[in-house]
Amino acid sequence: MLNIFDVKDRCYLITGASSGIGRNLSILLNEAGAKLLLTGRSIEKLNETHDMLKYKDNAIIESADLSDVKNIKDWVRNFISKHNALLNGFVHCAGVSIVKPLAVVEQKDFVDILQINLIAGMELLKSVANPKYSVRGSSFVFVSSVAGLIGEPGMLCYGASKAALINSVKTAALELARYKYRVNTIAPGMVKTPILNAYKGLEEDQIKAIEGKFPLGTGEPSDVSNAILFLLSDASRWITGTTVIVDGGYSAGK
Ligand SMILES: NC(=O)c1ccc[n+]([C@@H]2O[C@H](COP(=O)([O-])OP(=O)(O)OC[C@H]3O[C@@H](n4cnc5c(N)ncnc54)[C@H](OP(=O)(O)O)[C@@H]3O)[C@@H](O)[C@H]2O)c1
Repeated sequence: MLNIFDVKDRCYLITGASSGIGRNLSILLNEAGAKLLLTGRSIEKLNETHDMLKYKDNAIIESADLSDVKNIKDWVRNFISKHNALLNGFVHCAGVSIVKPLAVVEQKDFVDILQINLIAGMELLKSVANPKYSVRGSSFVFVSSVAGLIGEPGMLCYGASKAALINSVKTAALELARYKYRVNTIAPGMVKTPILNAYKGLEEDQIKAIEGKFPLGTGEPSDVSNAILFLLSDASRWITGTTVIVDGGYSAGK
């Protein structure tokens, strides 16, 4: 049977592959036969991801701190070239969260969060949306958040960074369509991963109240990875410049 979600032998770069959604996505794409360039901050955690892969020879890991935005272009082009890779796309899963209300938020909080969530991602796109590094028809996916669509107390910086991604992909998609490059975001709701440590100041009943806002309950990393696989595959070949919401119904009633 024809598999329109087929990514076998395609090559993808995944940031944030050392944890949570990026790790789960790495395992899924590896199982589906894709070749992977995996990056994250911690080499130990990247090694753990690598150990979890079924086809270990199909994945290369390299750690990088993407807060050092000035060096992203050289780093990523070198990473691709030294492995003779040509990308079919990337997924920018790397992200950080800060939960702080307006009264205590500082300029540095905005700078730190925008650096990883937005600027590093756009710098990656700028660096690889080029025929030397990625094939015609490549798909670039940014992991945004429903926090970029809907306000929640404490989510000022995080929501701003994710809203910026949602808008940025629209412009990037228009500019890159002439090369048949597609650019989209995924907006997940609450998925239990280490990023939720940002909520650690909240009481148990406050966390329960947030979880109660998801009609289908909170999500699993695989719920997000499956939707990303769709956006990478030819099944979504006519989709660009948009946001796929994967949130268990959270935003439906807003
Ligand atoms: N979980 C949720 O509820 C949820 C909801 C909506 C959106 N998202 C988004 O989903 C994406 C993945 O998050 P997650 O839930 O999987 O969280 P996670 O488990 O904390 O993973 C975050 C990843 O980002 C990487 N990272 C952070 N700072 C970095 C830096 N300076 N340089 C390079 N890599 C860096 C981490 O690397 P190390 O671990 O190696 O430090 C890690 O691999 C994020 O963009 C997040 O905003 C998550």
